[in-house]
Amino acid sequence: MTDARDPLKVAKGLAGVSVADTGISKSDADGSLIYRGYPIWEIATNAGFEETAYLVLNGTLPTKGQLESFTEGLRDRAEVEPKVFRIMRDLGRDAHPIDVIRTAVSALGSIDSEKDLKGKQLSLEAKMSVLAANSHRVPRGEDPRTPRKGLRFTDALLQMLTPREATEYERRVFERVMMLYLEHELNASSFTVRVVASTLADPYAAASAGLASLKGPLHGGANEAAMEMLLDLGDPAKAGEFLQAAFNEGRKVMGFGHRVYKRFDPRARLCKEYLREILERRGGDDRLYRLCDSLEAEMWKAKRIPANMDFFAAPIFYSLGIEIPLYTPIFAASRIFGWMAHYSEQIEDNKLIRPDSTYVGRSGLKYVPIEEREP
Ligand code: ACO
Repeated sequence: MTDARDPLKVAKGLAGVSVADTGISKSDADGSLIYRGYPIWEIATNAGFEETAYLVLNGTLPTKGQLESFTEGLRDRAEVEPKVFRIMRDLGRDAHPIDVIRTAVSALGSIDSEKDLKGKQLSLEAKMSVLAANSHRVPRGEDPRTPRKGLRFTDALLQMLTPREATEYERRVFERVMMLYLEHELNASSFTVRVVASTLADPYAAASAGLASLKGPLHGGANEAAMEMLLDLGDPAKAGEFLQAAFNEGRKVMGFGHRVYKRFDPRARLCKEYLREILERRGGDDRLYRLCDSLEAEMWKAKRIPANMDFFAAPIFYSLGIEIPLYTPIFAASRIFGWMAHYSEQIEDNKLIRPDSTYVGRSGLKYVPIEEREP
């Protein structure tokens, strides 16, 4: 047993350190990812979004009855009170969409009438997509959009995100991207959610902390940054010199690299294929695909760093006509299901997450009155 006065020192950023047992999902350096035992391509090819969410939350694929009741439960709880939209509107047009959702989720913690834990979690899962879809428009004074009755979860979200009628293939691609974003073991935001859950705070508190963690460009914010970068690059032939400029300035290239995947991110591979198909089916310009392909190849040639999921999800959203500030909110609308799976798993076998630290500061100093301090 480790002596409490002599804590175990682990790698910076907890890289390569296992801090929890989980049965929810697992990613590996070789480019594999499983959800509750199922390889990700099995899920992405065969399942639907609600089915995947049920699997991640409950550990097994649903029966027909279970799926219907879960889907109904989500539909029944999607309505967001006008009071929450007013709070979102009051933040004003310059508010960052993730800050808007986070504030709304905090408000829900006080306003939501759900009594038990499962009801609270379902309510958050259902409302997150409505909050995400409205996180950019409502603070700018536009009327909230609500889900059209009877639509599947991701179809309803897509309909709120863009009034343009998507084709059946585009809706299916959007659903798959949402399934790929749904869960990813101990990423920064899911770990954050588990830390908050371990204090026995409620799911609203945990989800708002998860949102705070997701906002950063090293995590969820990367999909928006990647899209801005692709637009900035513009010409596939300039990918090499574009990257060289980033390296010279010591800038990270958004949408590349991953803590776990060092050869390839399986979600990025799937999304790359979806992007190719979506542009091909539409006919005409495939420049966006060529931009991604050329940047990916040049990055691999220069640094052996693979593209991650965000790099290919962003141009898919762009092709669907979705505004860039909504990309991280979309991520949140999907990842909330993974967060809630982690929340439940954490409290089922809880121990307060409270690590130790190695103190490297000064000690034994004497208090100096303010008038005697050196300027
Ligand atoms: N651009 C340039 N160099 C990179 C990049 C990148 N995107 N990613 C990693 N590197 C380099 C680092 O500079 C470092 O080089 P060094 O050893 O010479 O110092 C080396 O590769 C290792 O990188 P780390 O940052 O230490 O790797 P870590 O596992 O800590 O970071 C991370 C992973 C944060 C995702 C990193 O790759 C990154 O910042 N990527 C850009 C942001 C991004 O796309 N985030 C999305 C993650 S996926 C998701 O949230 C769905």
